Amino acid sequence: MINIAILGLGTVGGGVAEVIEKNQSEIKRVLGDNIHVKYILDIRDLPGVVRDINIIVNDPDIKVICETMGGKEPAYTYTHLALEHGISVCTSNKELVDAHGVELSRIAREHNCSYLFEASVGGGIPIIRPLRESVAHEKITRIAGILNGTCNYILTNMKSGKSFDEALKEAQEKGFAERNPAADVEGHDTARKIAILASLVTGKKFSYEQVHCEGITNITQQDIIDAQAHNMSIKLLGVYQDGYILTAPFLIPASSPLYGVNDVFNGIMVTGTQVDNLMFYGRGAGKLPTASAVVSDVIQCAKNINTNINNNFADLQPVSDLVKVPEVPEGQKFRILV
Ligand SMILES: NC(=O)c1ccc[n+]([C@@H]2O[C@H](COP(=O)([O-])OP(=O)(O)OC[C@H]3O[C@@H](n4cnc5c(N)ncnc54)[C@H](OP(=O)(O)O)[C@@H]3O)[C@@H](O)[C@H]2O)c1
Repeated sequence: MINIAILGLGTVGGGVAEVIEKNQSEIKRVLGDNIHVKYILDIRDLPGVVRDINIIVNDPDIKVICETMGGKEPAYTYTHLALEHGISVCTSNKELVDAHGVELSRIAREHNCSYLFEASVGGGIPIIRPLRESVAHEKITRIAGILNGTCNYILTNMKSGKSFDEALKEAQEKGFAERNPAADVEGHDTARKIAILASLVTGKKFSYEQVHCEGITNITQQDIIDAQAHNMSIKLLGVYQDGYILTAPFLIPASSPLYGVNDVFNGIMVTGTQVDNLMFYGRGAGKLPTASAVVSDVIQCAKNINTNINNNFADLQPVSDLVKVPEVPEGQKFRILV
């Protein structure tokens, strides 16, 4: 029996408990053992929930922790403490991975445990591990990703004649957008995610602050109509290419696999010099898809107790040679994905 703890019983944390419960026999088949959620830590006073991290990290039964609280604190302090106790941490927290991922990965290595973050980018889509392992030998020339389901839902919805404000309101009513949608629609969420992906394939630590960031708030119905007239769609992309990194709305030609990625779905196109184009597609958020990605990390950690899984983050060096982002061509409102 592998005993774990979940920190933060919210959308993703609740999903982790549910996936482990529902997929018990599949987990047993791949791991050869059962996973048991021994502790849940949350700020709320819920039955059976603990509020003191020390109870968890001082229990020698605990081998893996899922950090699904979000935000920098106390997630950073708790993760640090767990790793120092030799407990692996699996997280969906992109903000923490961006801000402290390198340091936490080094602590994990020093203490023979792991810091994994598959769920921090692309929700349920396996993208971190394929980049870290399957195409690790490739020279990656471009990553272009639709990485924010809220923005993609809004832009898809605007095709039916709605204004940005109307499409945003509908996204909020359906629970696809937060009441304060700034981090999504201004591109910051996408910026965090493309910074993590670029870091994985370059050996350099791109941080969120280095990403040139444009959002979707000034996209009009006329822009959508014009794009459709040219057989293109407008998508908010995170792009890493040729040493530069940006988040901006792009015109996507119908010939691109990203053109048909609609509604809340995410799509990530990765280009390598030998493998050519790869396309990753799926649900980029949501309780169960995101939790599924966390559980995949938990299984990997459970198979590697007292061993550090190299997450390609511990040795990252700061970027010193960032290339200036190409301007939008004269007379155009958007860049075109070619
Ligand atoms: N939701 C998604 O689809 C999704 C997808 C990919 C990645 N993520 C990432 O996953 C993380 C969690 O997201 P979420 O949507 O699951 O958030 P959430 O629903 O707000 O869950 C966070 C949980 O942690 C609890 N919490 C907050 N501060 C705490 C503290 N100091 N001590 C103990 N518990 C605390 C919260 O309690 P209260 O509710 O009382 O504050 C809540 O139960 C975030 O980093 C997010 O960016 C989410």
